[in-house]
Amino acid sequence: MSYQIALIKGDGIGPEIVESTVRVLDKAAEKYGLSFSYQSYPAGGCAIDLTGEPLPKETVEGCLAADSVLLGAVGGPKWDTLPGSLRPEKALLGLRSALGLYTNLRPARLYPALKDACPLRADIVAKGFDLLMVRELTGGIYFGDRGRRDGKYGPEAWDTEAYSVMEIERIARAALEAARKRRKSVISIDKANVLETSRLWRETVHRVAEDYPDVTVEDMLVDNAAMQLVRNPSRFDVVVTSNMFGDILSDEASQISGSIGLLPSASLGEGKRGLYEPIHGSAPDIAGQNKANPLATILSAAMMLRYAFDQDAAADAIEAAVDACLLDGCRTADIADAHTERVLTCTGMTEEVIRRL
Ligand code: IPM
Ligand code: MG
Repeated sequence: MSYQIALIKGDGIGPEIVESTVRVLDKAAEKYGLSFSYQSYPAGGCAIDLTGEPLPKETVEGCLAADSVLLGAVGGPKWDTLPGSLRPEKALLGLRSALGLYTNLRPARLYPALKDACPLRADIVAKGFDLLMVRELTGGIYFGDRGRRDGKYGPEAWDTEAYSVMEIERIARAALEAARKRRKSVISIDKANVLETSRLWRETVHRVAEDYPDVTVEDMLVDNAAMQLVRNPSRFDVVVTSNMFGDILSDEASQISGSIGLLPSASLGEGKRGLYEPIHGSAPDIAGQNKANPLATILSAAMMLRYAFDQDAAADAIEAAVDACLLDGCRTADIADAHTERVLTCTGMTEEVIRRL
């Protein structure tokens, strides 16, 4: 089987973690009789420097033509003062929208080998957790009308949150389908005590859920959810929520898993093609120093093998190799106990994964 992968290395640590992941993919290809061809495209800050815009047309076309997209990270202080429409983040939002990637899957679990990195109390850690955040990715306040105007007290700014029944239905289905492959429980998170979009969200999720009598569906208000995630994370299986709530809660979920450097994500639309990226950012403070943790990107590639290419055996093997590395005490700086553990570089960790694959 041969697949074409569009690479968006992006900014900061992006190039290091993507190049590391390509080495892991090549090893998996060799072992499982697959063949990958790669084509790199600029997006984010580096694209602004190169072409004046964060998401050049060629990048969108290249991604649309590929079987899948692997992305490192975009952004950095150099581009922070540019106007909203020219910021590197615009590349991410533009790609999600252009590729129709409305479902964002962000799994977060506690790695027993890393339980000391978990900031939660020991009795909560002892119960562990394994959840899947399903975040709506192409609607809501991220994509609503916005602007500046003169208000009652002088200049003001406004953003709008809108959700159509169609958008809620399709993300609800994605979550319910995912739950069927897990522990068959969905918690839908909203702010229905205040927001009209949330009331429509709740109504619609429950209507769609009638087609899934084998899955239990519960509602939770977002403020309570933020609290329950640190109080009792083991009660969550699949979580489904809007674009903005999902952005915030997925960072919280990543933090309780020990390190944001471990969490992968998949962004999916109607077809097989998706965009796979770590949920962390470009970490400009350690860029180019071979210090970054490549595991979140490597695990994102495993998700790509599973969802885009149906290569479950290769995906399982990469995930098992990462697990084995962690169990064997391989640590990059972000997850190491500085006093007792030897710290691996980005390439060092990559080689440990490859050796166990
Ligand atoms: C994420 C990021 C992005 C988002 C930013 C960089 C636009 O925080 O993928 O979670 O808010 O979606
Ligand atoms: Mg975020």
